[in-house]
Order: sequence, then C-alpha cells, then structure tokens
Amino acid sequence: MSNPIQSVRGMNDCLPDAADTWQAFEAIVRDWLRRYGYREIRTPILEHTGLFKRAIGEVTDIVEKEMYTFVDELNGESLTLRPEGTASSVRAVIQHNLLYDGGKRLWYTGPMFRHERPQKGRYRQFHQVGVEALGFAGPDTDAELIVMCADLWRELGIAPTLQLNTLGDHAARQRHRARLIAHYEAHRDVLDADAQRRLHSNPLRILDSKNPAMQAINDAAPKLMDELEDEALAHFDAVQQRLHASGIAYEINPRLVRGLDYYNRTVFEWVTDQLGAQGTVCAGGRYDGLIAQLGGKPAPAAGFAMGIERLLALVDAGGRALETAAPDAYVVHAGAAAEAYAWQVAAVLRGAGLAAILHCGGGSFKAQMKKADASRARYAVIIGDDEAAAQQVTLKPLRGTGEQTRVELALAIDYLNNATT
Ligand code: HAM
Repeated sequence: MSNPIQSVRGMNDCLPDAADTWQAFEAIVRDWLRRYGYREIRTPILEHTGLFKRAIGEVTDIVEKEMYTFVDELNGESLTLRPEGTASSVRAVIQHNLLYDGGKRLWYTGPMFRHERPQKGRYRQFHQVGVEALGFAGPDTDAELIVMCADLWRELGIAPTLQLNTLGDHAARQRHRARLIAHYEAHRDVLDADAQRRLHSNPLRILDSKNPAMQAINDAAPKLMDELEDEALAHFDAVQQRLHASGIAYEINPRLVRGLDYYNRTVFEWVTDQLGAQGTVCAGGRYDGLIAQLGGKPAPAAGFAMGIERLLALVDAGGRALETAAPDAYVVHAGAAAEAYAWQVAAVLRGAGLAAILHCGGGSFKAQMKKADASRARYAVIIGDDEAAAQQVTLKPLRGTGEQTRVELALAIDYLNNATT
C-alpha cells in the first residue's frame, strides 16, 4: 500500500468537533456584524497578482516572500491566492461602483494564504473575519471600528489589549522617510542584512525589526509623531476622545507600523500574551489612499481583520464556552413495521425543526443504543413493533437523569422542544 497523502504543510483540516465551535463563533460574529449594519461581500479567492502588489506594496514581507503565486498555464496570467481581504474588497467596490450612492459598510470571512513558516498560531492557510468601512473619512468611523471589536471581545469573554498609533498622512510620511534614511545611513555599520536591503525601499519597516542588535538604533530613530500635520493630529485626538468616552483602554505604540503599505493615520492591533509569539488577534486601520491607488474615484476607508484561529485559541484559553448544538434525537428501530414508522417519525421531527438522526444499517436494539449514545443526541427515540402499531414513540434521555416515557408523536415534539436534558 502506498503512503496516504497528507494535507499541505501549514494548511489544516477543520474536523467536525472543531467545525461545531467555528460555526458557533461564526453565528456570534454574523449577529454582531448585523447589529452594526455591516453587509457581507464575497470575492474570489484568486486574484490577479498585480492587485496585491499594488495594494499591499512591493517591498513588504507578504508580497516579497509569502504569496502563493502561479502562472495560469491556459492563458499565461499571473494569479495569486489572496493573502488578505482588503485588496479584493476594494477591487470589487471599484469594479462595481459600489460607492456611487455613498459609503458602504462591508465584511467578509474566509481562507487567506501566506507562505510563512508555520508555528502555533501561524498557518499558511488561515481564516479571517474582515470589516471594511469605505467612503467614511471621520475619526468617528475609526473609533467605532475599535469599539465594535471591544464589543465582540466582551461577548466572547476575552480581553486582548489595544495598541494604537497614527501614521499621519502621505507628506508627513515622506518627510519621516527621508529622515529615517539619513539616520540609518549615518549608522550603516550596525544595520543587519534585512535593514540594509530595506534602507531605501522601505525604511519604515526597519523600525519593526525583532533583532535585538537593532534595538538601540531604532530607539534613537526620528519619530513620525514629530512630523505629523495638525489635521492628522486632530484626527488622532478625536479618535482617542471617543475611545475614552466609550471606556476603551489603549496604549499608544509609536512602533506600530503594520506590515502592509496602504495604511495612513489611525492604525491599531489587539494583542494578547496568552498565545505565545503570535499574539496579534486583530489588526487594522485607515487606508484613505488605497481606493484611488487601485484606480477608483478617491474615497477614504478604514477597516480591520481578525485571525479566527488565534481568536478561537484565545477563547479556548479562558473565554466563553462556545455552545455547540448536539442532535436532538437518535431514532432506533427494530422490525420491518418499526423501520417504516421510524422513517415517518424522523421526517416529522425534522419537519418540526428538530435534529433527528435515523439509525441506518440495522443491528440489535443494544447495538443501536450504543450508536445513539455516541451520537451525542439528547434523546433516543425508540420504536419497536408495539410503538409502530400504537403510533407512539418511547423517549429515553441519554444525558442527565430523566425517566424513559412513551408518548404520542405530537407530544414527543413538545417534549423534545422543551426538554432541557
Ligand atoms: P494583517 O495584520 O496582515 O492585516 O492580518 C490580520 C490578522 O490576521 C492578524 O492580526 C492575525 O490575527 C491574522 N493572521 C495574519 N497572518 C496569519 C497567519 N499566517 N496565520 C494565522 N493568522 C494570521 C490584514 O490582513 C489587513 N487586511 C487588515 C485590514 C482590514 N486592514 C484594514 N482592513
């Protein structure tokens, strides 16, 4: 026998027990988004490579080394599995002129692909819930995006902390960039290989270096804060005022620059120390230039995305228990008349909205009851020839301490609907 084929490294199966938890999480998220007036957008998982190069930036880790890019052999096009959802959302908004009658609040969920080194909390296929508020310029939108995250954390029973920064506007960043290059050029001898490479292409990313040898020179680097225009500072102040008013604690982190180039003004990350090295569970900010940069009529925008694997790990580490639904009933039957009636019973239960597994494959009552137990169902619905003749069912609670009872089918529905065991 040949070796069984395994899944691709860094890409995980979501098995039924985990999928139950994901569904419970997704139900909470969908309701949360509905309450904030966001509407879902679904875009293809494959896009033209140029979209991500233009949106995320040529000199970013994602574009330089993490994208799953290939040539479509049928027509020679370069295509990429999406590494994130903002670029695709903006592409779709421009392509379909969605902002023609004003701003739009959009969300999406699904798999994203980055060829990173897999470790706990970092995968090559991972999943995000992303939120994009397009066409809104004010600090009220930035603040509401953050407040809505805090709302979800409360609901999930988790408490990541908020790191906040502002990147200012384009001109300030250009001035800062020139100063940074001058600073690092003056200390060229202590730059590591990554920093040397990025010195002229993306000096801002040098600030993000995890290399302890770069710490001192980064601490002494010119601060973007010192270059910010009054307007950007006022915007940042207004965001903070609203966060104070909403009782949201945060820490200003001037080092927070984000790994994607499209951001300006407010950027934020929700982080935790409960998950080891991959502690950022949600991140985002304002990206006022991106719509124009991708060929649309200029319009401001802001958003964020959370990593579902990381969030669920955090929930698992001490958040709310996500309720997963067990089947209501497992229908067991023995004898030809009983089987025919069991089919009717299962159909009636399902018609009443109950989850009923009909035993298939025959076998003794005892063997069927074992299957009923293993199914996690709350009740076994037992049908023998007696029950079939009387058009009744016997209900046996499989969890808790309730008594077995024999009832009319209509009553069984009430029973299963109301029973709490
Ligand atoms: P990002 O910071 O690249 O931003 O990713 C957002 C979140 O996705 C991260 O905070 C993390 O929770 C999760 N994540 C990223 N990479 C991985 C991975 N390899 N394995 C597991 N989880 C991961 C964006 O993607 C932006 N599009 C967010 C945004 C939306 N900004 C504005 N709108």
